[in-house]
Amino acid sequence: MTYRWPARLLHWGMALLVLAMIPVGLVMVQQGLNRPVQNALYLFHKNVGVLLLLLIGLRLLYRWRHRPPPLPATVPGWQRRVAALSHGALYLLLVVMPVAGYVRVRAGGFPIEMLDAMGIGSFVPRSKPLAELAQTIHYFGGLALIALIAVHIAAALHHAVLKGDGVFARIWPPLGRAGRHR
Ligand code: HEM
Repeated sequence: MTYRWPARLLHWGMALLVLAMIPVGLVMVQQGLNRPVQNALYLFHKNVGVLLLLLIGLRLLYRWRHRPPPLPATVPGWQRRVAALSHGALYLLLVVMPVAGYVRVRAGGFPIEMLDAMGIGSFVPRSKPLAELAQTIHYFGGLALIALIAVHIAAALHHAVLKGDGVFARIWPPLGRAGRHR
């Protein structure tokens, strides 16, 4: 059994965006970067980050309405538990990261161009301590997310290349026909 196409499309679309957000975030904070380049990276990071917050909301809603297909019976119990835990942590960080980024920027009094253009003002007060707290959460959350994504990709490759046990085929291809779904 496979995931339905909206779940697969959301998974791979968000994967692409998050995999772009991380290097962009790491590069844009470097000192001595060419100013126009830095501005463009910030513009991308803040606005795509807000879009990701909407997408994760949509994804959680979809997952709540459509439970994931069962894992193949060959997957041992401990792997099911580790998978459930790590997927839960990934979802949590995909909420925490954009929220912390948003608070860091808005509490710091900075623009989020897409929201500003739509006339959507700040949901948080301007406050230096709040901006600093959010910045710290965003930083350590980013490190945890990088570690979890590395484990997630390693596990996916293990199932797809070494075991070929049908785990990866549940979420592939991103669009179009797949096997039977739930
Ligand atoms: C899934 C979404 C996001 C991911 C994976 C992500 C990831 C990162 C990473 C890895 C960094 C570099 C580490 C650091 O210096 O803190 C960073 C920095 C930053 N991010 Fe994000 N981010 C996300 C969403 C957002 C959003 C929505 C905003 C704002 C609207 C934002 C604003 C910032 C800012 C301002 C910095 C520089 C931190 C500083 O002030 O030093 N991020 N992000």
